[in-house]
Formats: sequence, C-alpha cells, structure tokens
Amino acid sequence: MPNPTSRTRALPLWLAVLTALVLSLSSSGCKKHSGNSSAILESNIGPSSLALRGRLIFDSTPTMAHSYTGNLLSCGDCHLESGTADYAMPMIDVANLFPRYSQRAGHTITLVNRIQECFARSENGVPPPAGSPGMKALVAYIQWLSRAAPQGQPYESRGLVKLPALTGNPASGKKLYASRCAGCHGSNGAGMPPSLPPLWGAGSFSDGAGLNQTAKMAAFVQHNMPQNAPGTLSPQQSYDVAAYLATRPRPKFDKAYQNY
Ligand code: HEC
Ligand code: HEC
Repeated sequence: MPNPTSRTRALPLWLAVLTALVLSLSSSGCKKHSGNSSAILESNIGPSSLALRGRLIFDSTPTMAHSYTGNLLSCGDCHLESGTADYAMPMIDVANLFPRYSQRAGHTITLVNRIQECFARSENGVPPPAGSPGMKALVAYIQWLSRAAPQGQPYESRGLVKLPALTGNPASGKKLYASRCAGCHGSNGAGMPPSLPPLWGAGSFSDGAGLNQTAKMAAFVQHNMPQNAPGTLSPQQSYDVAAYLATRPRPKFDKAYQNY
C-alpha cells in the first residue's frame, strides 16, 4: 500500500515552509468567521515566536510534523480556523482546562497528553515526546490562544454543538454525501489534500478517533459542513451522513497507544 505521507515527505524544505506560510496566511481570508476568531488570529502573535511555529504545525501538520503524522490531515482541518472557530473544538481556553480527568484514559491527563492523543488517533500517527520542539510549539500556540479566554467562566462554544441523540440511516446518508459532500471530499472520500481533506481511506483519521463516533461526527457536520453552506443540514440529515461515513474503511487505531 502506498504510504500516504510519501508525497509530502518528498517536498524540499523551502517549499514545505513556503506552502505552510501561504496556507496559514490564506486560511484567515477564505473561511467563514465566527465568534472572536478573526480578532484573535489578527492580534500580534510575534513574527518569530514559538507560538507562530505552533500555528504553522497546527495548519500544515503532515508537512511540518511529518514524522509523527500518519495521514493527510492537519489539526486545523478539524479544529477549524486554526483552532478558533466556535463548536469546531476550538483551542481557546483549552490550555486552562488541563490537567483534567480523562474518561478514555482512566486517569488525569495533561495538555501534552491530549495533543499526543490526537496525534495517535486523529492523525493516525505517533505521539511526539513531551520535550520535542514540535510539541513545545503546539503547546505554546494553544496557550497563546487560551490567554484570550474570558476569565472565570467556561468558554461558551467549546467542543461540539449539542444535538439530540438520533439514529442515522446510512442509505439516506449515502445520497446526501453524493449531493452535499462529494463535490469537495470526492466520491471516493479521498478529497484533494491539503486543501480538501479526506473523509475515509488511508489518508483519513483512524477508527479510534473522536470523529469515528457517529454522534460526534453528526455534531461536527451539523454546525460546520458543508463548508460552503454550514448549518443547512438538519440534525437527522447530519446523523444520516455520519452513519454513512461510519461504514467507510479507514486506518485501524494502533492499540499500542490506547492509553493516550
Ligand atoms: C480528524 C479530526 C481531528 C484532527 C485531525 C485533530 N483533532 Fe484534536 N480533537 C478532535 C475531536 C473530535 C476532539 C474532541 C474529542 C472528543 O470529544 O472526543 C479533539 C480534541 C482535541 C483537544 C482537546 C480539546 C478540548 O476541548 O478538550 C486538543 C487539545 C486537540 N484535539 C488537539 C489537536 C492537535 C494539536 C491536533 C493536531 C496534531 C489535532 N487535535 C488533530 C478531532 C481532531
Ligand atoms: C465546499 C467544499 C466542502 C463541502 C461541500 C464539504 N466540505 Fe467538509 N471540509 C471542507 C474543507 C476545506 C475542510 C477542512 C477545514 C476547512 O478548511 O474549513 C473540511 C473538513 C471536513 C471534516 C473534518 C476533516 C476530515 O477530513 O475529517 C469533515 C468530517 C467533513 N469536512 C465532512 C463533510 C461532510 C459530511 C460534508 C457534506 C455534508 C462536507 N464535509 C462538505 C470542504 C467541504
């Protein structure tokens, strides 16, 4: 099977850095803005700061953190608008919430552990060590975003939007996928990375990822997709598409990382 990262690995470094810069600069221009995200992104991050490096990794993960990434997804493909969009698991305030108890791990985890978990599950990759430069940069970026959080109250649009618990119909979801999603993500789910991320297959998230749970996928889709008309699917339609996506093949989560 071809290694999905081999193409990005072959990029010369200067091209990788240029691509990352262009992507990160263009990302604030072409996407919908919700909440405080544009104000936060436009405030001065510092041209040579560790946090800026963290944002580049966040928005171009397969290129900037290729040895830890096993698919073609960037953090920012799911945590939209560089981790600032409402109800797309924003990173604002998140640094202030750790260490916290994790039901999945069964013990208290740190922000570093939580990032490692997304590398192992959502990036289908390898958890970067706590002291690695890339991890330090990601933590610095999430801390930088979290400094803007309102003090003394939970961040309102954290995580995903709350939907009623419904049962999705994969056959209806398949039709909806063809009419509302395939134009960007492809009829084979492979998208056109890095600008249009894959939804299934070797380049996608593993079966141990949060978005592989139908309720979470439905909530993500209902509020954030289709990207050109978010909020236009009903909760039932969102569950239908999520149920269809759950039938698609994707990488197996490596159980060696199940404590993350
Ligand atoms: C395929 C989509 C996807 C990708 C890619 C992804 N994540 Fe996540 N991430 C999620 C989901 C979904 C959650 C919420 C998990 C849950 O509730 O189970 C989450 C949660 C988190 C959290 C905790 C947020 C909170 O509110 O508690 C952090 C921190 C995080 N991710 C960081 C990252 C970083 C850094 C990357 C890139 C290295 C990344 N994620 C890549 C989907 C993704
Ligand atoms: C107009 C193009 C477009 C359409 C239509 C669209 N998406 Fe997306 N989707 C994107 C882009 C681009 C991203 C990456 C995040 C971003 O840049 O906003 C994304 C990200 C995602 C993600 C998280 C990243 C990943 O690949 O796992 C999921 C899940 C998703 N879309 C599902 C859907 C579903 C389901 C539909 C149909 C209901 C849909 N999208 C329709 C463009 C689109």
